[in-house]
Amino acid sequence: MKRFKIRFLPIDIVYTAEEGENLLDFAMSAGININASCGGFGTCGRCRLKLIEGNIEYRGQRESSGSETDKKEDIILACQSYIKGDAIIEIPIESQIDKEALREKIKTKVLSARYDILSLNTIKPNPIVFKKLINIKLATCEGMDDLSSVIGAIKKEIHKKDIKVRLHALQTLPSTIRDANGVITVTLFDTGHYWELIKIESGDTTKRQYAIALDLGTTTICGRLIDITEKEKDGPRILEELSDYNAQISYGDDVITRIMHTKKKGGLKRLHDAVVKTTNSIMEELIGASGIKKEDIMFIVAAGNTTMTHLFLGVEPTYIMIEPYTPCFLSPPVVRAYDIGINLSCETPIFSFPCVSSYVGGDIVSGIVGSGLNKKDGVNLFIDIGTNGEIVLTGPDWMLCASCSAGPAFEGGGIKCGMRAAKGAIEQIRIDPVTFEPTVLTIGHIKPAGICGSGLIDGIAEMFLSGIILQNGKINRDLGSKRIRQTEGVYEYVICYGKDTLTGKDIVITESDLDNLMRAKAAMFAGCKVLVDVSGIGLDDIDKIIIAGGFGHFIDPFKAQIIGLFPELPVEKFSFIGNASLHGATLCALSKTYAQEAQRVAQMMTNIELSNNKAFMDEFIAAMFLPHTNERLFPNVIKKIKNSIGDKSV
Ligand code: FES
Repeated sequence: MKRFKIRFLPIDIVYTAEEGENLLDFAMSAGININASCGGFGTCGRCRLKLIEGNIEYRGQRESSGSETDKKEDIILACQSYIKGDAIIEIPIESQIDKEALREKIKTKVLSARYDILSLNTIKPNPIVFKKLINIKLATCEGMDDLSSVIGAIKKEIHKKDIKVRLHALQTLPSTIRDANGVITVTLFDTGHYWELIKIESGDTTKRQYAIALDLGTTTICGRLIDITEKEKDGPRILEELSDYNAQISYGDDVITRIMHTKKKGGLKRLHDAVVKTTNSIMEELIGASGIKKEDIMFIVAAGNTTMTHLFLGVEPTYIMIEPYTPCFLSPPVVRAYDIGINLSCETPIFSFPCVSSYVGGDIVSGIVGSGLNKKDGVNLFIDIGTNGEIVLTGPDWMLCASCSAGPAFEGGGIKCGMRAAKGAIEQIRIDPVTFEPTVLTIGHIKPAGICGSGLIDGIAEMFLSGIILQNGKINRDLGSKRIRQTEGVYEYVICYGKDTLTGKDIVITESDLDNLMRAKAAMFAGCKVLVDVSGIGLDDIDKIIIAGGFGHFIDPFKAQIIGLFPELPVEKFSFIGNASLHGATLCALSKTYAQEAQRVAQMMTNIELSNNKAFMDEFIAAMFLPHTNERLFPNVIKKIKNSIGDKSV
């Protein structure tokens, strides 16, 4: 990837950009705030910049910003411009939103690092279900049977004594081996105690070995089609990947609502059918897009939270939500495709990750394996932010974990203008501390439709930094901004007026939204603090914080510290791993070494139950403040806030 120097005037700061970066995205991530109220759609015309010199590609519908004067003066819209080389750009006064920030000479662009995950091409495949090529001789005398010929040939070539046979493998065995011309391919499942013969095919099919890895999320299900053959040269391991909303979302946003639905007549079947339907449809698409044959999918590895794993297998999850929170199982059995209605060859094994407790499930175990933290030195904190927040603190030979019920706020749930991280969701917000005018950037650069979780964190941090929100989470009534108003008795701040939005309605952040987010962030922080205290270390002893989860990489760690969601640690210690659970499932599909490691990790984790935990409740209450009631935990944030808003802070 080529990198170029972009010099911004009049502040005269030079940043390094990657080729092809959108100029508005780049400027905002560098801390340079430019007016933008249509989310980067190109319609408001407020992100005007002057190209002094350099190579910027303009991809807008209109040339420059439209007017003849703009064309003559090389005025471009930042949201429609892409970096192709070094450039010098002037920010006209009318496009500057945060003059304070512009005056701050930030020397380096702080980028959230992407956590290095293990490259799949370094792994030698050793899957739990595999194919072997076998030479076979048909029975030549009376008293012998076809199955004995096959088993005898396998034992002779692979030297394995204990082999059991699935009925399905027998059903077409006689004609299969007679069509085979002496060569058959057998599919075997290594159960750890014996080998199971699942399938027999004529000829050599060993080049066609595939598996599916699944992340069964409460909101989204992600699937990957993986080539598990041994390759002479580096080739793509992941053939296709895609995700879709879990069809269960029409039965509730969170696991508790889903469990409650299973109590209704036919509820368990409805939820089981819904997750299986989504899985089948994802698999159909993966297979269709790759052009492989369905019968060459040899097994599935699925990672889900404890409730999702129960529902996927069609098992009653009722007691997960009733004290003492007892799941039906922690180590799920291996099932077959026909057991649960998966549209693959009926004997196809389906492996689910082991869970740790009712609220720390196989997705977290998979995430730890996927991140490699089980093998890492030092003290590391793994945070998965989703519908629920799960935290794992890992030390040299110990792991503590906990689940915090953060509520759906981080996924846009329970927020007046909240939405999931989809096109049109506001993901970045900047607010001028003098005029209180906001700049917004949306996913897909289209007109704003709502605010997603990362946008909410960004927006609330900006509202706090500009003095719109007080430390108690209430909106400051004394600022005299027309964007602060009362609707039906609730105070709110208008992020976008209806004329600039996709829906035509105003997009606001209300005091009720603030309350929901305060609870969510307080639960996450309190959970981290309790684990750190239980382990006997201090927050400063944490070497690395890995943020997992679908929207994790959109969170600005500094903004998350401003609101007290993450502990105050140098931003260099934070990295984002994306869907660690899916990566863990992929590793386990490729090699049984990782599957065995997942079992070890699940056994190694000590679950700290936070419900009814006094220390957690105390920490939760202490964290219901911005950033926290204990300012000594956030010294730099407090300094920044004092510099930013001075006496507006109380
Ligand atoms: Fe660029 Fe609106 S025209 S943000």
